[in-house]
Amino acid sequence: MQSNLIVTTARHPTPEMASIARRAAEELGGRIVPKTGHTTIRKIQSQFHTRLVLSIGQRMTLFVDDQEIFFHPSMSVVRLKRILTGEADTLLVKSRVQPGDSILDCTLGMGADAIVFAHAAGVQGRVVGIEQSELLAFLVKEGLKRWQSDMRQLEEAMRRVEVVAMDHLSFMKRQPDRSFDVVYFDPMFRHTVKESVNFDPVRFLSVDHPLTHEAIGEARRIARKTVVLKERLSGGEFERLGFPPPDSRSSSFTYSVIHMQEEHTH
Ligand SMILES: C[S@@+](CC[C@H](N)C(=O)[O-])C[C@H]1O[C@@H](n2cnc3c(N)ncnc32)[C@H](O)[C@@H]1O
Repeated sequence: MQSNLIVTTARHPTPEMASIARRAAEELGGRIVPKTGHTTIRKIQSQFHTRLVLSIGQRMTLFVDDQEIFFHPSMSVVRLKRILTGEADTLLVKSRVQPGDSILDCTLGMGADAIVFAHAAGVQGRVVGIEQSELLAFLVKEGLKRWQSDMRQLEEAMRRVEVVAMDHLSFMKRQPDRSFDVVYFDPMFRHTVKESVNFDPVRFLSVDHPLTHEAIGEARRIARKTVVLKERLSGGEFERLGFPPPDSRSSSFTYSVIHMQEEHTH
C-alpha cells in the first residue's frame, strides 16, 4: 500500500513542512509531488493512479480516496478533563497505573488511551505506543508532537508518548523480563461483526488480526504489574486468551486484567 503513497505540501511550504514531507517520503516509501498552481489532491490522485495522498500543511492530512484522516486526541480530551476533576478513569483503575510507571500500549491506534496513560504515569513515567500500520504511526507520532491545546496537561501528556511503528510481538520479543509495569492491548478484531456499510478510513489503515497467544505470553513475561485487554464482552476473546472473566456486565466493551504479582506468588 505504501508504495503508492504520494506526499505533497501546501503551496508555499515552510521549511518545517518541507522537512516533514521529506521524512514522510523516506520513512513511508512515498514520492514527493510539490503542489503548484491549480494542483488539487484529486488531480494528484488521478495523475499518479493512487488512492493515498499525504498532505503536509498546518495540519497533516492523509487522503484515502475522498476521505480524510488526520490526528485528533478525541476521547482523551474528555477523559483528561474528568480525571482532573477527580473522577476515576476505568482503564487507569483496572491497570493500576501509578505515577512513575512504564506502560507499553501494544495497539496505539490514534493514541487516546496512550495519552491518558501518559498523564497518569507523569513526568517520571514512560509510555511506549506500538502501532503496526506505518502510515497511522507516522500520522499519530507527528500529531502527538505538534497538536496544540489550551489544556497544558493534555499537551504535556501527548509529548511524552513514544511511538514505535512495529508489530507488537516483534517489539516485545526484544524486551527484557519484567521491563514494563503495564502491558495493554486494545485490538481491532472485536469490530469485525458490524459496520461494513460505510468506508472507515482508520479501519482501512489499521491491522485487524486477532491477538495471538504468543503475544499474550510475551506480555506476561515483560509485565511487572498488569496485562490488560480491552474487548467485547461476548466475543470469547478473554477466554480464548486466558484472561479472567471480566466483572462488568453493563457495557458492550470491557477490560480484563491479569495481575502479575498474584501469578508470581501462586
Ligand atoms: C482499536 S485500535 C486501538 C485504539 C487505541 N487504544 C486508541 O485509544 O486510539 C487498534 C490498533 O492496533 C493496531 N494493531 C493491530 N495489531 C497490531 C500489532 N500486532 N502490533 C501493533 N499494532 C497493532 C491496529 O493497526 C490499530 O491501529
